[in-house]
Amino acid sequence: MVAARITVNGKETPIAPATPHTTVLDFLRERGLTGTKEGCAEGECGACSVLVARPGVDKPTDWVAVNACLVPVAALDGQEVVTSEGLATPGAPGTPPALHPVQEEMAVRGGSQCGYCTPGFICSMAAEYYRPGRCAHPEPAADAAADAEHGPNGFDLHALSGNLCRCTGYRPIRDAAYAVGAPAEDDPLALRREQSPPGPAATEYALDDSAFLRPGTLAETLRLLRDRPDAVVVAGSTDWGVEVNIRARRADCVVAVDRLPELRELRVESDSVVIGAAQTLTEIERRLDGTVPLLAELFPQFASRLIRNSATLGGNLGTGSPIGDSPPVLLALEASVLLADADGEREVPLADYFTGYRQSVRRSGELIRAVRVPLPLSPVTAFHKIAKRRFDDISSVAVAFALDIEDGVVRKARIGLGGVAATPIRALATEAALEGRPWTAETARAAAGILRAQGTPMDDHRASAEYRSAMLGQSLLKLYAQTTEAVSS
Ligand code: FES
Ligand code: FES
Repeated sequence: MVAARITVNGKETPIAPATPHTTVLDFLRERGLTGTKEGCAEGECGACSVLVARPGVDKPTDWVAVNACLVPVAALDGQEVVTSEGLATPGAPGTPPALHPVQEEMAVRGGSQCGYCTPGFICSMAAEYYRPGRCAHPEPAADAAADAEHGPNGFDLHALSGNLCRCTGYRPIRDAAYAVGAPAEDDPLALRREQSPPGPAATEYALDDSAFLRPGTLAETLRLLRDRPDAVVVAGSTDWGVEVNIRARRADCVVAVDRLPELRELRVESDSVVIGAAQTLTEIERRLDGTVPLLAELFPQFASRLIRNSATLGGNLGTGSPIGDSPPVLLALEASVLLADADGEREVPLADYFTGYRQSVRRSGELIRAVRVPLPLSPVTAFHKIAKRRFDDISSVAVAFALDIEDGVVRKARIGLGGVAATPIRALATEAALEGRPWTAETARAAAGILRAQGTPMDDHRASAEYRSAMLGQSLLKLYAQTTEAVSS
């Protein structure tokens, strides 16, 4: 096996002597690339953002911004990374480098004061700068669509939702983002998108009694998980990275599954949509492009773009958190989970999957291979996430609705709840109270009263039990208001 190595700013670098738990952030900084900063070490500030070449949605390669503080460097064996230092073009000896267009705009528009957050903003901004289809022309047309979250140059501000700045203020940063044009024809990173990204490298990287393994095939992975029940499975590492950095967890064996083809499929069939467990949320969002409206409503509210660029549905279900954002939505969609082990595969309705706090029916050695969403979809859907911030926050309560309403009568209701019990749950009593009833204010008020009493919410630092219950009821009343406004408008 070839020694583990990573290409940083065009230069191939051995990963040794980093440990299997060393993050990309620490690896870069130890090699003098100190533009990449540590702010929080848990995926919340974006100071550590770097670009990684990944399989593209519309081009062979996408430049994707990720949180370097969360990813073990061994997970990028064989991959290409670009840091803020690598975006500038080196000058002749004795002259400064030529700034990249996003660096130039940040500089001239006052987008940086102390500069601590700036390299991270630059990398997130560069990823959006290179997003295929963002901007077809170097100079955006005067009448190009612009709204509160998109610039006239097509720049999606959500690209920066995972980056925090404590001193400049966001207006000059937004000005810089909305001022960038399209990449020049000879821009090396734009040209790089036309070629395939590096393939996944089968990795066996061990040091000091711990190992980071990336088996080459699903069969190999399942055998390994059968033989090593203690192994920690990672895909985007957005959860494991926090455990390593903040809780100092270490594992003898970490197994990466994010590049296995069987976990990377996304198929829309006549009776279902099958989403591979290792598709990132950004990939699902862009590939489905609104095919499942409830998922499309979920994604902008799920953490930040930086996290969505790495996080997966498999990971969100695998951690079993009662406040994960995807389970309420997948429960309302009546999704099921495809579980694979060395002996075969089984399909479990998500409603039967969770068994207790962070526990599920998934057996030792089993891997979440995919999620299946049955078709047809209910036409009336909504996802209400109640949190202290609008974006990039953990929910206090999350409610997902999927209703069939025909001739003014609720024929079918599916409601998924998060944050009100030890596991994500279906609001079965409320569903029963809605089905067969006319979709009227009276029905909504009566069902809201039942919904308020569902689950066993707790008091904690995010919200009180009383507030959580109140929000459940309000959520149903809000849905009623939204649907009737839609009907009457
Ligand atoms: Fe804050 Fe990585 S250091 S997101
Ligand atoms: Fe100081 Fe952003 S420029 S934190």
